[in-house]
Amino acid sequence: MQFKIAALLGDGVGPEVATEAIKVMEAVGKKYGHSFKFQHGLVGGASIDAHGVALTDGTLKMCRESDAVLLGAVGGPKWDDPKAKVRPEDGLLALRQELGLFANLRPVKVLPMLVNSTSLKPEVIKDVDLMVVRELTGGLYFGQPKKRWQTPEGRKAVDSMLYSEQEIERIVRVGFEIALTRRKKLTSVDKANVLESSRLWRQVAMEVAADYPNVELDHMLVDACSMRLIQRPSQFDTIVTENTFGDIITDEASMLAGSMGMLPSASLAGIPKGKSSKAFGLYEPIHGSAPSRAGLNMANPIATILSGAMMLRYSFALESEAETIEKAVITVLEEGFRTYDIMDEHKTKVGTKEMGDLISDRITRN
Ligand code: IPM
Ligand code: MG
Repeated sequence: MQFKIAALLGDGVGPEVATEAIKVMEAVGKKYGHSFKFQHGLVGGASIDAHGVALTDGTLKMCRESDAVLLGAVGGPKWDDPKAKVRPEDGLLALRQELGLFANLRPVKVLPMLVNSTSLKPEVIKDVDLMVVRELTGGLYFGQPKKRWQTPEGRKAVDSMLYSEQEIERIVRVGFEIALTRRKKLTSVDKANVLESSRLWRQVAMEVAADYPNVELDHMLVDACSMRLIQRPSQFDTIVTENTFGDIITDEASMLAGSMGMLPSASLAGIPKGKSSKAFGLYEPIHGSAPSRAGLNMANPIATILSGAMMLRYSFALESEAETIEKAVITVLEEGFRTYDIMDEHKTKVGTKEMGDLISDRITRN
């Protein structure tokens, strides 16, 4: 089969890690007889430098005309002035909103050979295998009013955590559908003891639950959830939550896996049914552009490579191909190869490019 993929490599380490993901996808394509056609476009700081905006209409159109989008990372100190009119992050937020990518899936799985690369005790994290479903186009990030203004008493600013029941319902459904493919346990995370939007969230979650009698639903306050994620993370299976809450708890959860450099993500415009789907999506590592590591062939490309595997699974319904990538990653780690962020005693340290070469080589060879 033939697939058109928009490749937005972005800033910092983005181009380096995304190049390795493309290499790995091409190896899988060759093995299974698929053709992945990558078309490149600018996003973030790279687009600001070239066009004065973080996302051009042309790049957005190219994404719309593709079957999926692969993104590296955006941002960097060069564009970080708080008074700046345009920010690299605007490009990513515009992509999410314009492409309707409301469902962000962030799996966190602790691989046995990496239990020692985290700062937590091995017995606490050893069985961690969870999936956070983060709402991505509403809530505090996008709700109106959202502004800053001058008053006689000084400056004021507001952001709004606004949700319609339709927005809550579709994301909660994604949570249930994902839970069905896993251990059938869904935790809906909110702040219903304080926030009205969370009380509506909780009520809608309970209503949707009627359609999923085989999934056990529970509710947890976001502050308690952040504590439990460190105290007893293996108790979680699938978590569904608001945009900002999801942003915060996924950075926290990434530490369970040892490094942000290990965690992929999928942002979907539809509800996946079953283990694979054909939803339009954007795939990116959860880490940022790591400007201090850029251009040094250091960054761990595994998060982006695994995001490529998620693309095969959730946008192209190519489950065996996705598993081939995931297995190759495990093989290379089992063989003892590590990038700097997951380096351990008696292991072989490799750079970004070498890690990508090793993984694509294991795909070709097996
Ligand atoms: C993420 C990032 C983004 C977010 C930033 C870069 C806008 O932190 O994908 O988690 O806050 O959503
Ligand atoms: Mg974040």
